[in-house]
Amino acid sequence: MNITVVGTGYVGLVTGACFSDWGHNVLCVDNDENKVKMLKQLQMPIYEDGLEELVKRNVAAGRLHFTSSIAEGVKFAEVIFIAVGTPPGYRGAANLSYVEQVGREVAEHMTDYKLLVEKSTVPVNTHEQLKRTVSKYLRADIPFDVASNPEFLKEGSAIEDAYNPDRIVIGVESVRAEKLLQEIYKPIVEKTKCSLLVMNPASAELTKHASNSFLAMKISFINAVARVCELADADVEQVAQGMGLDSRIGPKFLRAGVGYGGSCFPKDVDAFIQIADHLGYNFELLKEVQRVNKTQREHVMQKIQRELWVIQDKVVAILGLAFKPGTDDVRESPSLYFVPQLSEARAKLRLWDPVAEERFREQFPSEKYFSDPIEAATGADLLLILTDWPEVKSLDLDKLKSVMNCPVIIDGRNVFDPKLVRAKGFTYHSVGRE
Ligand code: UDX
Ligand code: UDX
Repeated sequence: MNITVVGTGYVGLVTGACFSDWGHNVLCVDNDENKVKMLKQLQMPIYEDGLEELVKRNVAAGRLHFTSSIAEGVKFAEVIFIAVGTPPGYRGAANLSYVEQVGREVAEHMTDYKLLVEKSTVPVNTHEQLKRTVSKYLRADIPFDVASNPEFLKEGSAIEDAYNPDRIVIGVESVRAEKLLQEIYKPIVEKTKCSLLVMNPASAELTKHASNSFLAMKISFINAVARVCELADADVEQVAQGMGLDSRIGPKFLRAGVGYGGSCFPKDVDAFIQIADHLGYNFELLKEVQRVNKTQREHVMQKIQRELWVIQDKVVAILGLAFKPGTDDVRESPSLYFVPQLSEARAKLRLWDPVAEERFREQFPSEKYFSDPIEAATGADLLLILTDWPEVKSLDLDKLKSVMNCPVIIDGRNVFDPKLVRAKGFTYHSVGRE
C-alpha cells in the first residue's frame, strides 16, 4: 500500500522507514530541503540506533523515497501521516501551526479521497480542528477523513519499540479509515499479535497524553521518594526494586535521578495541563509532577554547591549532554539547566557526550568539548554525571581518580554503587542514596 509521511523528524522518519520495512511503499515529505537532500544521499538527519541500516535497506528495495514536495506527497498515497513537530508554544500549549500548515497544504492539493492521520502528539480534539482546516481549504467537495494514531516510540529505542509495540491505537470516525489503518498495521499485528485498539479520535488523542503524563508522574514519584530516602537514610534503588516487583507497579520508569527531559514528557505534561484547563479541569496532580521534576535539578545543583563551596574557577566535568542514552537529542535535557547555571557561576566546564555534542554545541559554542570521558575529567575538581551512557557505567574508576584534581563525583543518574566508588577513594553523592 502507498503511504505518505509528512515530517522526517524523530517520529516521522522512524515511522516511514518501519512502514516501508513492513512491505508498504512510502514517500517521506519534509519542507526542510537540507534534510531531504541528506536523506536522498542516505545520510541520517537524526541519530537513532538501527535507523541508518533500516533506511538504506528499504531505499535499496525501492520502497522508501524522499521529497520536499507536499504536492507529490498528496498525489502519492490515499493515507497521509502527519508527523511534524508539535513543540511547546504559548504558556506550554502545543504549537500546532505545523500541523495546521500540513492540513492546509494537503487540502490545497487534494483531488480525491484522503485519510489524514495524526501521528504527532496533539491535544485532544485536534482532529476536529484539522477537519475544519481541510474543509476550509479544499478546492472542491472531496470526501476525506481525519484519524489519530499516536506514537509510543521512546527515543534511543524507537525502532525496537515500533517492531515490538505494546499496543497500536487508532482513533477513527469511519469504517473506511479503520480498514485503511488495519491494512497498514496488518504485518506488525500478525507478527507480534499485539492489540490494535479502535476508538474515537478524541480517546486516541487523550490516550497518548495520558500515557506520557502517567510515565512522567511515575518518574516524579520515585524522585520524590528519593528525597525522603535521603532524609531517612534509605536507598531509593532498593525501594524501587521492592516496589517494582509488584506487578501492578512494574519495575520500569522507577529510576530516580536528575529528572526527565526530552521532546515529549515536558511538552506533553504541559500540554495536558493546558488542555484540561481549557476544558475546565485544573490538573493539579500534573502541576506537581512538573514541580518535582524542576526541583530535582535544583536539588542536585545544591549538592554541587555544597561540595565546591566556591564554584568560581573550579573545573567541572560533565558527562552526558543528551536527555537520555541512545539519542543525540538534547531537547529539555538536564544539561541545558546545569551548563548555564555553572557557567554563570564561572566554573570552568569540560563537556563530553558520545553523540549529542554537535547538537549541544549549536547552543553552547564557546564551551570546551572532549571526545573521551577521561580526557574531559582531567584536572576536574568535580565530575557531574547527567546521562547514564554505557561509556560512563564502564569507566575505569582508578584511571578516573588519577586524572582528576579532586576525586568528587555527583551522580545524577545513580550509575555507580556508592560503596564501590567510596572504596576507590571518591567523595560520591547520588540521588536518594545519601
Ligand atoms: C515528534 C512528534 O511530531 C511530536 O508530536 C512528538 O511529541 C515528538 O516527536 P519530532 O519528530 O521530534 O516530533 O519533530 P521534529 O524532530 O521537529 O521533526 C519534525 C519534522 O517535520 C522536521 O524535520 C520539519 O522540518 C518537518 N516539517 C515541519 C515539515 O516537513 N513540514 C512542516 O510544515 C513543519
Ligand atoms: C517518551 C515515552 O517513553 C514514549 O512512550 C513516548 O512516545 C515519547 O516520550 P522518550 O522521551 O523518548 O519517550 O524517552 P524515555 O525513555 O521515556 O525517557 C524520558 C526521560 O525520562 C529521559 O530524560 C529519561 O532520562 C527519564 N527517565 C526515564 C528517568 O528519569 N527515569 C526513568 O526511570 C525512566
